Amino acid sequence: MIIVKFGGSVICNKEEPFSFNEKIVEMLVDEIAQFYPEKKFIIVHGGGSFGHPLAKKYEIRKGLGEKNIIGVCETHQAMLELNKKIVQKFLEKNLPAFPIPPSSIFIIEKGSIVDGWIKGIEEMLNRSFIPILFGDVAIAKDKGIDILSGDQIITYLANKLNADKVIFLMDVDGIYDRNPKEKGAKLIEKIDGKIKIQWEKKKFDVTGGIKNKIEEALKMPCKVYFINGTKKGNLTKAIKGEKVGTVKI
Ligand code: IPE
Repeated sequence: MIIVKFGGSVICNKEEPFSFNEKIVEMLVDEIAQFYPEKKFIIVHGGGSFGHPLAKKYEIRKGLGEKNIIGVCETHQAMLELNKKIVQKFLEKNLPAFPIPPSSIFIIEKGSIVDGWIKGIEEMLNRSFIPILFGDVAIAKDKGIDILSGDQIITYLANKLNADKVIFLMDVDGIYDRNPKEKGAKLIEKIDGKIKIQWEKKKFDVTGGIKNKIEEALKMPCKVYFINGTKKGNLTKAIKGEKVGTVKI
């Protein structure tokens, strides 16, 4: 089973609220279709310009307050809207995509999953469905409510369901040794436990987001690819195991 993260920056235009990159999603679904049903897939998509602006507006990361309960529902609703658009693209290509709202099956604490009911996902996979999950608002033991990122869902599922491979689709070519916008930034082709140590020693200038992604990848029991999901053919290469982007071995 392969887990593919449709990163928010791939499926949406980050600068424009509620924008959906329809053509890119169609391209990605076409690539997945070449391998279905021989290979099983779980898709997890990000919040992009649907979830993030609302999560910020309603200060969801601060927890459930007196004034943001409707905002929590609206943020979830925006995610359902984005999810519907993505699921529709799969159905148009005759792929049995089935949405699973993470807020219905996970409880979190400090942003990580501490309790999950994933029997349904397993049984869906057994019946050849393609479960589609997404970054969501979720019940949090510590804050009442918090954001559950797609990346956390992937770490949990990859371990519990013993994924064969995880593929993160991003809008850059992989993981760089520093901010890719900086001059001289180099693409890191392979990541293993040692790279993490180098990172901490040298303190490369990277965003918390990427550092977190690498730490999560190192916790996974399989190969993890970080590739540019906006370029045609990259997803196919990663599914086949060909050289592309950054690989955690
Ligand atoms: C965020 O999910 C979900 C919400 C803001 C509700 P992710 O953290 O997985 O999203 P991206 O990939 O960064 O957009």
